[in-house]
Parts: sequence; C-alpha cells; structure tokens
Amino acid sequence: MTNHNKTILSGITPSGKLHLGNYFGAMRQHLEMQHQGNAFYFIANYHSMTSVTSGELIRENSLNIALDYLALGLDPNKCTFFLQSDVPQVTELSWILGTQCPVSLMEKAVAYKEKIANGLSPNIGLFTYPILQAADILIYDSDIVPVGADQKQNIEICRDLAGKLNHICGDEILKLPEPHIVKEVAVVPGLDGRKMSKSYNNTIEIFDEGKSLKKRVMAIETDSTPLDDPKDPEKCNVFALLKLFADQEKQEEVAEKYREGGFGYGHAKNELLDLINDFFGDARERRNVLKKNPDFIMDVLKDGGRKARERAESVMERVRSATGIITTHRKETV
Ligand code: ADP
Ligand code: TRP
Repeated sequence: MTNHNKTILSGITPSGKLHLGNYFGAMRQHLEMQHQGNAFYFIANYHSMTSVTSGELIRENSLNIALDYLALGLDPNKCTFFLQSDVPQVTELSWILGTQCPVSLMEKAVAYKEKIANGLSPNIGLFTYPILQAADILIYDSDIVPVGADQKQNIEICRDLAGKLNHICGDEILKLPEPHIVKEVAVVPGLDGRKMSKSYNNTIEIFDEGKSLKKRVMAIETDSTPLDDPKDPEKCNVFALLKLFADQEKQEEVAEKYREGGFGYGHAKNELLDLINDFFGDARERRNVLKKNPDFIMDVLKDGGRKARERAESVMERVRSATGIITTHRKETV
C-alpha cells in the first residue's frame, strides 16, 4: 500500500523526558513515515494537563520534545510540526464530539482505569481524554494514525465518535482514520522488566548520556546466574533492549556469548551502552546545536501551527455547517 497522498497524523504528550519505549514504540515510525505521505505531528500539550499540573514543567517539556524530535531527524520541510494549542479548532471539535459521546464509551476506556490505578486524580479531562484525541485526529481529515499498541482503543473510540457525528449529520462529514501499529515492538521493557514507562521510574531516556546513562544501564535487573555459567539471552532484559539497537549479526554474536558462558551480565550491559551511544550519538550532537537556537524552534512550530490551523479550519467549517453552529467571525481567526 502506498501512503503517498495520505494524511498521516500523530501526537506526543509532553509529560516528561522521552525514553526508549517512546522511541521504539512510537517516534521511530513517526520519523519513518514523514517520508511516506503528508504528515502532521504535534505536541499534545492540552493532554499533558491531565497528568502534569506545573505550567512551568509543561512549557519546558513541550519545548524539549520539539528539540528531541528535530534532533532525531524530524524534517519540518517534509511534515507539519506544531503545538496542539496553536489549533483552537481542536478544542471546539472536541466539545462537539463530546455532545455525541455516551458516558459508557468513556467508562470502557482502559487507559483511564490504568492511570487512576497509577495514582492520577480522576478529573474530567482525564476521563474525556479520548474525545480530545479523537478531535486531534479528525480535525485534519487524517487517514493514518501511527501509534503504539496501547493507543489502539483510543483510535477505535475516535472512529466510533466520527461515525456518530456522521450519523446525526446524515453525511460523511468526518473521515474515519486507520491506526498504524508497529507490531514488532509491542512493549519495550524497562529496567525492572515491566513496560518501560515514566510512571514506573524504570526508563532509559533517549538523551541521557555519560555517567548518568551508564548508571541506568547498569541498573537493569538480571537474575543471579554466575558469570561463568551459560545464560539464555531470550530470558534477559539486557538482551531484549540490545535487540532494539543491534543488527542481526551483532544480535547473534552476543546471543552466542550468552550461551557459551563466561560472559556476565555486566559485559552485556557494556555492549548495550556502546550500542545506545552509537545509535543516538549524532542526534545528541544535533540537539546541542539546536538548543542554542530557540528562535529556530519557535519558527518551526509557528509555521507548522499556521498550516495546521488552515487545514483544521476547513474541516471545522464543514462541521459547523452540518451541525447548525453559526459563528459570525470566520477566516480571520486562522
Ligand atoms: P509513559 O508510559 O512513559 O507515560 P506515554 O504513555 O507518554 O509513556 O507514551 C507515549 C507513546 O510512546 C505511547 O503511546 C506508546 O505508543 C509509546 N510507548 C511508551 N512506552 C512504551 C513501551 N514501553 N513500549 C512501547 N511503546 C511505548
Ligand atoms: N494519547 C497519545 C499518547 O499518549 C498522544 C496523543 C494525543 C495522540 N492526541 C493524539 C496520538 C492523536 C495520536 C493521535 O501517546
């Protein structure tokens, strides 16, 4: 299937520093897909308000994520990169979708239950998070939404809500998107073997380096098989992470060392550390250069915001007209 004329959209929430789970589960495919179609990628700062309360932190995280994406290879000439808050039409559509959303649909959302179980306060924003996410997607007539496996339900909710609005309008006002989920990297394990997640404090950050990175890698939990004994690579967290970075040949070479014995987990961790440093080395350098040029980052976001608003306004015009919402101002808001 070719995505050439397709609109590809995804968002990333600025709720903390990006880690390997974010990279292999979501960002890597965003970066790959920018070359395949008309890509829109945004920083979901409104979504981050459901879990982060410090404004200072939200501002800092948002700009850091912009830096991270650009350093990792996001090309603003190839895709539209912007802040969610630069497109007010999104919150407008979110309200309209909410009027058609049964409470029971939100009650079925597993992410909400998980977040509450992890200690987040059960606010309405968190409860209706998938409605805002649906608006994010539908406002650009998106065809494809590249996301991690954990976002599948949110995309289903989005399709459901689009269908409901189309039904009451008696027309195909909103386009139903398809999720695009990387299957090979369903879950990147964290230091303790659970899913890598900032809520579990078990992450390795993409832009960590030096001693601090080494400390994290050395903290990966392993079993107590003695150094000289043979080990099963497939049962080891270090090897699971190493596989993400190493090519086939390197993977086989290291797996063989595991099986032979005389190769300790400390050795494996050093191999992993080298691979991480090689993999993200260029991006780290680019990030240091970009960091000195905040005006460039703001210009990229500003330009992306303008393009995104134009597209969003044309979809919103359709929605307002179909739902009977009159406004006396137009265009000048774009
Ligand atoms: P966290 O769990 O650290 O709060 P987020 O929920 O903000 O991470 O993750 C953003 C996206 O990154 C998710 O939608 C998911 O697709 C991807 N992602 C996060 N952690 C992992 C992981 N451990 N394995 C695979 N993908 C992940
Ligand atoms: N919920 C997504 C996540 O946690 C972020 C997000 C917000 C998103 N709006 C979106 C992803 C729209 C795809 C499309 O990763």
